Amino acid sequence: MSALNIVVLNPLADRHRELILAAEPNVTILVTDEANALEHMPSCHILVTWGWMETRHLYQAAPHLEWIHALSAGVEKLLFPEIQAADTILTNAKGIHGIPVSEHVLAMMLAFSRGLTVSLRQQETRQWKRIPAGELHGSTLAIVGLGSIGREIAKKAKALGMTVLASKQEVTTELFVDKLYPPDDDSLLEMLAKADFTVTALPLTESTQNRIRLQHFTAMKPSAYFFNIARGAIVNENDLVTALEQNLIAGAGLDVFACEPLPESSPLWSMPNVIITPHVAALSPAYLDRSVKLFADNLTRFIQGREMLNVVDKVKGY
Ligand code: OXD
Repeated sequence: MSALNIVVLNPLADRHRELILAAEPNVTILVTDEANALEHMPSCHILVTWGWMETRHLYQAAPHLEWIHALSAGVEKLLFPEIQAADTILTNAKGIHGIPVSEHVLAMMLAFSRGLTVSLRQQETRQWKRIPAGELHGSTLAIVGLGSIGREIAKKAKALGMTVLASKQEVTTELFVDKLYPPDDDSLLEMLAKADFTVTALPLTESTQNRIRLQHFTAMKPSAYFFNIARGAIVNENDLVTALEQNLIAGAGLDVFACEPLPESSPLWSMPNVIITPHVAALSPAYLDRSVKLFADNLTRFIQGREMLNVVDKVKGY
């Protein structure tokens, strides 16, 4: 077989190249960026990109492209009609986000529970004012969508003495979940009503778009905190703003938004009971190591004609 050309739209360290070449020495790796990728497409067999990068025009210029791998879990910009109609393989980095994202969720939950959001503001004006602080221990967490990220959050929450509820498509045996709910709306509302903290960890698909709306915030306790580390479009952001303004919930920790960057005009910026992070929950010094390792494992499988990991259903979108 002649060498396969892999085009990677992200800088790679030497150790990443070595990982790929150790998996398959008979490949050429070309590292470029979005702006300069087009000229490399005619000879590209495998494209390694991010799910949020515009790739459709590259796909159209790549007659030999057999496989696109997303270094991210999300593949929203990679589900264009041409790829959906073709047998081009699409894989993603699902499964590598659990550690950093669960730590991010815990950081936000602890920040609210221990009053850090208030203390940090007081510190800016040198105010010494003791504020009440709670415990996560003994409280209830609801996880909407129990994949690899949800499971890692559940594991850590159990270690902190929380009760963990989760909703999930299929019934499975879950070590760290006290009660599993089916994904229908009545069950979801029942679960949300019991939770002190709710986190969405769903993939964004047609059926999860706008999944959390006013009725769901209304079902939550007024003392509850809501977190989104998945995708902004899963939550109706106007309804979330209403819920916060009307004290239907106590606060929100948000890493993802309907429109990113979050527009300066968003009322969320100035809400004292909202933590905003700029889509960084999965960031970690280990991110690219894990993501490239997954790609390299898949490269061996691809070349040997074995079943590949993380093949995305291009219709379902995950
Ligand atoms: C991803 C993310 O999709 O970090 O990988 O949001």
